Amino acid sequence: MLRIAVLGAGRIGRIHSTNVAAHPNAKLIAIADPVAAAVDPLAEALGAEAMNDPIAAIDRDDVDAIVIGTPSDNHADLLLHAVAKGKAVMCEKPIDAGMERSQAVVDDVKAKGGKVMMAFNRRFETSFAAIRKAIEAGEIGEVRQVIISSRDPGLPPEDYVKSSGGIFRDMTIHDLDMARFMLGEEPVEVSATASRIVDEALTAKYDDYDTVMVTLKTASGKQCHINNCREAVYGYDQRVEVFGATGMLQHDNLRPTTVRRWTADITEAQEPLLNFFLQRYAQAYASELDAFITALVEGKPLPTSVEDGLKALALAEAAIESVRTGQTVRL
Ligand SMILES: NC(=O)c1ccc[n+]([C@@H]2O[C@H](COP(=O)([O-])OP(=O)(O)OC[C@H]3O[C@@H](n4cnc5c(N)ncnc54)[C@H](O)[C@@H]3O)[C@@H](O)[C@H]2O)c1
Repeated sequence: MLRIAVLGAGRIGRIHSTNVAAHPNAKLIAIADPVAAAVDPLAEALGAEAMNDPIAAIDRDDVDAIVIGTPSDNHADLLLHAVAKGKAVMCEKPIDAGMERSQAVVDDVKAKGGKVMMAFNRRFETSFAAIRKAIEAGEIGEVRQVIISSRDPGLPPEDYVKSSGGIFRDMTIHDLDMARFMLGEEPVEVSATASRIVDEALTAKYDDYDTVMVTLKTASGKQCHINNCREAVYGYDQRVEVFGATGMLQHDNLRPTTVRRWTADITEAQEPLLNFFLQRYAQAYASELDAFITALVEGKPLPTSVEDGLKALALAEAAIESVRTGQTVRL
């Protein structure tokens, strides 16, 4: 039985806490969040202790592992403290908004032999995982191109935008990790373009963007295209296509049912897409947490690492530099 404390009782903290509480090999000991109104009802509903100090939660003797779901600008401090205390960690992305700090975190985790998993949940979504397996099994031959479309239904709240590190480090980072997962080879060239066409005032205030495209190329010539927008009026749009020498693999959006409707006015109508990440990736979050708990309980390697977090961040930084300079960045 792995005893876990979750840090953060916001959108992602709630899903991780609920999944820990439901897991047969884990016990949710505590949830820590400085905002009592966020943590108290959640902890009560899940039978855990509500705390306001995340450091005190990490320090508890009755806690073996920590799940970090706090705003992105304090991941590094909490992660390092947990590793120093010998606790295993599952941490939301990014490690930190800066490369230097992220590299220092990776070095520290390595030096201390820390067990840290980056929460790249999409790798654990059944169909994306199946695509990866099919690639590994050689079903489509050598991968040539990966196309990733990832659009949010709407802009996040201003407070979130403020501490997010910007769209490339916050949102595109998932797709950059997906690109690495599907390409099976590290990108060495990054080009990007970025616009403020959803909410210019908000994004300009934080030197951020809301609509971006990235292209990646590996040393052997494999290509990847990523497109992101913070607003898609038809819902949370998450699609991946992998094109190879002997075939193609695709995963489309998900809906509550697969029913298609025909009437006098419309044909091929389907229900709206699953609303946002909490619904679309509910299975992925549960499988991700299960992979974390199972690896620790069985003493096996964690499926993702801080190095994966650093590599995805390096690609995000290269995309930002490409936007700034208008040049392709070579890694
Ligand atoms: N993997 C994913 O699909 C995914 C989705 C959403 C968010 N995230 C990541 O999760 C993190 C949180 O995002 P969110 O959408 O849940 O944000 P949120 O604003 O909904 O919640 C953050 C919570 O953390 C609390 N908090 C602030 N400082 C804290 C501290 N020092 N210790 C403990 N709690 C603290 C806040 O009071 C708030 O309740 C971000 O890093 C984000 O990048 C990941």
